[in-house]
Amino acid sequence: MSQSPAPHVLHVTGARPNFPKAAPVIRALDGLGVRQVLVHTGQHYDPVMSEVFFQQLGLPEPDVNLGVGSGSHAHQTAKVMTELEDMFVAERPDLVVVYGDVNSTVAASLVAAKLQIPVAHVEAGLRSFDRTMPEEVNRIVTDSLADLLFTTSPDANVHLGSEGVAADKIHFVGNPMIDTLLANLDAFDADAARAQLGLEGPYVVATLHRPANVDDPAQAGSIVKALHGVADRTPVVIPLHPRGRKSFQSAGLMDHPAIQVIDPLGYVEFIGLVRGSLAVITDSGGVQEETTMLAVPCLTLRPNTERPVTITHGTNQLVTQHDLADRLESIIDGTRTSDGVTPPLWDGHAGERIAAVIVRFLAR
Ligand code: UD1
Ligand code: UDP
Repeated sequence: MSQSPAPHVLHVTGARPNFPKAAPVIRALDGLGVRQVLVHTGQHYDPVMSEVFFQQLGLPEPDVNLGVGSGSHAHQTAKVMTELEDMFVAERPDLVVVYGDVNSTVAASLVAAKLQIPVAHVEAGLRSFDRTMPEEVNRIVTDSLADLLFTTSPDANVHLGSEGVAADKIHFVGNPMIDTLLANLDAFDADAARAQLGLEGPYVVATLHRPANVDDPAQAGSIVKALHGVADRTPVVIPLHPRGRKSFQSAGLMDHPAIQVIDPLGYVEFIGLVRGSLAVITDSGGVQEETTMLAVPCLTLRPNTERPVTITHGTNQLVTQHDLADRLESIIDGTRTSDGVTPPLWDGHAGERIAAVIVRFLAR
């Protein structure tokens, strides 16, 4: 009697925030001897947005890079879908694992679901309740198709329950992005980051890339004005995401002598810089979580967050460009500090919990 081949898992990654989430899951599955295939869609392709994460996080080389590159939502999503369909048909994985809320995530989920290949969604159930965010649409669609939903915070379980997802599909496992942070803590060197950039005293780090903040020239202009206001008080370092380059440059971001705009940093260098900072100004999802763990004050330049646990258990607060300088002032005065309580299960073992559930699923 011929034996059927061992079941295997196919991971789909593509954009910067996917990589620190996938690394601990891949490592833990590897430890359990599971056969794995790693696909990079090529949604992000600059070496500083992609390759550096593979070097620093011990991720295996992708088995395939689809090279889809940039494009409008429909073009990018469709390109990932058509490329993946051929791959999934040939490869026939037993489970497709997708991460976060980017276009590559939703594209892979749609293709797998139509081919009746089960989907696992890592970081399921987060909701901003703001459908003007493209990520919110990606989250809702992906969760509605997933067979295994791995959540990072209890609120995500509540959202999924209220959307009718069966309880036995939902697994509260903690946060694999935080696994990566904790595994690399010794490597984050604030002094090296400071020396590298010639920073002597306190400084603030800013990272902005949400379409709502960077695409519209008027909004970008208003944010640049607010950042100049912050820089009047404290130097600001901005590892600028490529999406904001044009609009922020046109709005005169670099014209302030205390603003240092640099290319995106590698993960280790970036968190080193964040670790030594007075505060972070951001609209990034992952950075809200990382600052919570590092107890670095985080000012999130957004009207909402799909990560409320970083406010209730962390250092995060929502701000507008109009109250940014005042909020920073209260951090400098020391009126806002972290109480050191971290969100439940953000303990460095989410990848192992995810791997254990996947192995049980494959053995069904
Ligand atoms: C994407 C995700 C967003 C995530 C972000 C993380 C979607 C819908 N959005 O947004 O959720 O927070 O990644 O960084 O999936 N570009 C480069 N080099 C690159 C990649 C992009 O220059 O390596 C430029 C291109 O001009 C491109 C633009 O950035 O058009 C936007 O890239 P894209 O992947 O479409 O969306 P992000 O804004 O990066
Ligand atoms: N990051 C990085 N270098 C930078 C800016 C961010 O390595 O210059 C890391 C950050 O620490 C986090 C991830 O990129 O791990 C978050 O990605 P991003 O902000 O692009 O996406 P989001 O989390 O908003 O989806």
